[in-house]
Amino acid sequence: MSTTRASKSKVSIVGAGSVGTAVAYACLIRGSADSLALFDPNTAKVRAEVLDLNHGTQFAPACRIDGADDPAVTAGSDLIVVTAGAKQKPGQSRLELAAANVRLAQELTPALLALSPDAVVLFVSNPVDVVTYAAIRATDAPGGRILGSGTVLDSGRLRFLVAQHVGIAVENVHALIVGEHGDSEITLWSSATVGGVPATEYRDENGVAVFDAAVRERISTQVVRSAYEIIQGKGATNLAIGLSTARIVEAVLRDQHRVLPVSTLQRGVHGVEGVCLSLPTIVDGRGAGRVLEIPLAPDEADGLRASAQTLREVQRSLGL
Ligand code: LAC
Repeated sequence: MSTTRASKSKVSIVGAGSVGTAVAYACLIRGSADSLALFDPNTAKVRAEVLDLNHGTQFAPACRIDGADDPAVTAGSDLIVVTAGAKQKPGQSRLELAAANVRLAQELTPALLALSPDAVVLFVSNPVDVVTYAAIRATDAPGGRILGSGTVLDSGRLRFLVAQHVGIAVENVHALIVGEHGDSEITLWSSATVGGVPATEYRDENGVAVFDAAVRERISTQVVRSAYEIIQGKGATNLAIGLSTARIVEAVLRDQHRVLPVSTLQRGVHGVEGVCLSLPTIVDGRGAGRVLEIPLAPDEADGLRASAQTLREVQRSLGL
């Protein structure tokens, strides 16, 4: 298990919209990869984004940046991040985007894997769980090679809100959102910890429990509403998804064996199968590995099953 790269790494980003460019920017400034390639059918847009990024290379760790309106630019990638597709309009749920983005994933994935036969493919396009499932079904790539960004960002939002509530660094908060990356996602309060103390037992200086039912409910709701709030205000969410995606990119390229709530095809953990959704998963150079069976409180287990059922119904309605 190493945290340094042995050979040169190439990451391609499909879609040079607000999310794709934020992923590229985050990868550039974090030094996530040796080479980045952007593919977008909009020639002027992709050329402009590549120029803009290249002009910053003096101020960032060494990185080669290319881009084109031709998917050939992605050839030989170690990892491909797919951000292409329609985006949520204000008030629209992620699941409402399903049909168009599923079709795109079904067409794109085999073509991208033909150009990069060994690549891990990371979907970010929404609804990410359904899109990831469709992409897996459209190819015969080995399990785990195709995964979705899932609830890595949602868990980051949760950790931020918990950390802010108690005035403790976000790195010292551990808490997960699992299930759908969307309205049916579940906060795992039963396993959340603050500085090693279970959140459910965490008390302030006066001995008063901090995360009572009302606070838990408020924070969980705030996590789910986050994207809607941002889309209302600026038309899209992009910066935090860019950073959280760069973290997943690094876990793959550096073979980190990092536990992340990415979206993968479930095969029976907690009785869930036949859908892609997020549970804590070991992410390494081959993509998504083992899914960990994190203990769930009864209401969390019910919530996870309901979330899986929601996704299954969307899949069925799309003929998947
Ligand atoms: C969000 C988008 C990426 O949650 O779905 O910000």
